[in-house]
Amino acid sequence: MCGIVGYIGGSQAAPILLDGLAKLEYRGYDSAGVAVSSLDENGNNTIEVVKAKGRLQILREMTDNGSSVPGFCGIGHTRWATHGEPSAINSHPHFEKDKRVVLVHNGIIENYLELKDRLIKKGYEFVSQTDTEVLVHLLDNYYKGDPIEAITKVMVRVQGSYALGILFQDRPGEIYAVRKDSPLIVGTSKEGNLIASDVPAILKYTREVYYIQNMEIVQMSDKEIKFYNIDREEIQKELTKVEWDTEAAEKGGYEHFMLKEIYEQPKAVRDTISPRIKDGKVVIEELNMSDEEIKAISRIQIVACGSAYHVGISAKYVLEEVAKIPVDVDFASEFRYRNPILDNNALVIIISQSGETADSLAALREAQARGLKVLGIVNVVGSSIAREADNVMYTWAGPEISVATTKAYSTQLSAVYLISILFGQIRGTVTKEAYKNMVKEIQKLPEKIQKILEEKERIQWFANKFASSHDIFFIGRGLDYATCLEGSLKLKEISYIHSEAYAAGELKHGTISLIEKDILVVGVATQEQLYGKLVSNIVEVKSRGAYVMGLTTYGNYAMEDTADFTVYVPKTMSCFMTSLAVIPLQLLAYYVSVAKGLDVDKPRNLAKSVTVE
Ligand code: F6R
Repeated sequence: MCGIVGYIGGSQAAPILLDGLAKLEYRGYDSAGVAVSSLDENGNNTIEVVKAKGRLQILREMTDNGSSVPGFCGIGHTRWATHGEPSAINSHPHFEKDKRVVLVHNGIIENYLELKDRLIKKGYEFVSQTDTEVLVHLLDNYYKGDPIEAITKVMVRVQGSYALGILFQDRPGEIYAVRKDSPLIVGTSKEGNLIASDVPAILKYTREVYYIQNMEIVQMSDKEIKFYNIDREEIQKELTKVEWDTEAAEKGGYEHFMLKEIYEQPKAVRDTISPRIKDGKVVIEELNMSDEEIKAISRIQIVACGSAYHVGISAKYVLEEVAKIPVDVDFASEFRYRNPILDNNALVIIISQSGETADSLAALREAQARGLKVLGIVNVVGSSIAREADNVMYTWAGPEISVATTKAYSTQLSAVYLISILFGQIRGTVTKEAYKNMVKEIQKLPEKIQKILEEKERIQWFANKFASSHDIFFIGRGLDYATCLEGSLKLKEISYIHSEAYAAGELKHGTISLIEKDILVVGVATQEQLYGKLVSNIVEVKSRGAYVMGLTTYGNYAMEDTADFTVYVPKTMSCFMTSLAVIPLQLLAYYVSVAKGLDVDKPRNLAKSVTVE
């Protein structure tokens, strides 16, 4: 994620930038910075940059609430690290050493390594570990006095997503901006013009905004705003009036962060997968393991907590199926104290959104103390687990605000798929054909998730009907059981309804005695080879009075002969089904919680990051 702002007008820029950044802190909060331009007594434009690691408050203190950085034109940034840990040097604005070009960026530049190599050969020096810094040098390289020309050249060269706010030293009193696949708006008022990642940043100053579309460029002074396309032709844009209040705007118009994050899943999954697929091949550069090391892995030990543990359970099915490596999955709180027997050639994988979960961190240390290599699958760059693991594969979900995880869970699954396919290919356990199909299929997951989200109304209706339940059971077999674990946890944590997930074949061994009239049972049946077996389990619970919601793939319409209510999701390969089947279950949990009038984003007794044992 990350948030960007810019202001030019009749007031001091820095306090306005800091105000705007405060409203964007939900987009990232590991560091922040501003760049303010002002003319000195000789008429020279100087651009002062102040940036710091940590919350925005630190930047406020460093700049005396902005008053120590005078000037009427500036840009600002609040960071959610992706490339390079949180630090002052990695935070934005980034600039050329003589500050010819100064910019802030929200997004990910996928081909930054290739561009960095070329720029280094041209003599450019890099000081940070960020992908953003290539944009500064690339712009400088192309800039011959015409900013729009230089920007369009950069747009042609870079792959990935970006929203940029740019200052050129020889263009005092002007801000340039451009976007592709990262949000950008322009606000206008009599007192000045603004750019921002999102509406909340500018609401205090104006409600008049232009929504910038992909590949559009903005040239802004205090008097006028011009828009260009990539062919450098001026275009006209329509001014829109924002009707939202500030709180609604922070949630992008969604009622809760959880729903917003559920809707961000197609993008989060795409951001995690697509930079790691190059020319039809899975390439995980950060894995840092040779083919020999991957071939030598004798077992994989996955350790995590909560939803991340559920990703581990899915991973067991996928890794064993695709890469044929035996996998054990442990709760971190158990692993650290049970004196596990670990093979010397085992790879330990710790999965964690926050990277700060105390038990997971302790498990990591325990594994390393026993001489094992640890791979972290982590969302928060520079977090403790990311720092201490031998290798880190980041999930690019962006900041997750809602306590109940959704998009981080989905991106963790994506990371596991990529690892499974890569390991399968290197170990020779997948055919060329299967490899090609898997790579093709995972790239289609975002659009399939999107399609499920478009049909949310049916789930919403169903959730209202069952919001007063006391007990709900989720049953599934194989990977569907892993999906049930997550569906059940989501429901109980935010709706406070007692719920259990069962491997459907286990019902008969005790739990079925709890099934009585009108108890809701959610039967997940997306695994083709287990479909018939699951239908038999549904018949068993129905004959004891249960009301059944069936969850299966399009085409399995016979489910309606057995279940009382059926939800369909698109088909994908069996091993990737969890990514699709979990979406209706997230929506179910969400809408039950809303129907009960509960605090969806902050459920009682829970914290986003469990940093104590
Ligand atoms: C559930 C949830 C938790 C976390 C768990 C691990 O919605 O969010 O179960 O998955 O606390 O947290 P991380 O992934 O930060 O280690």
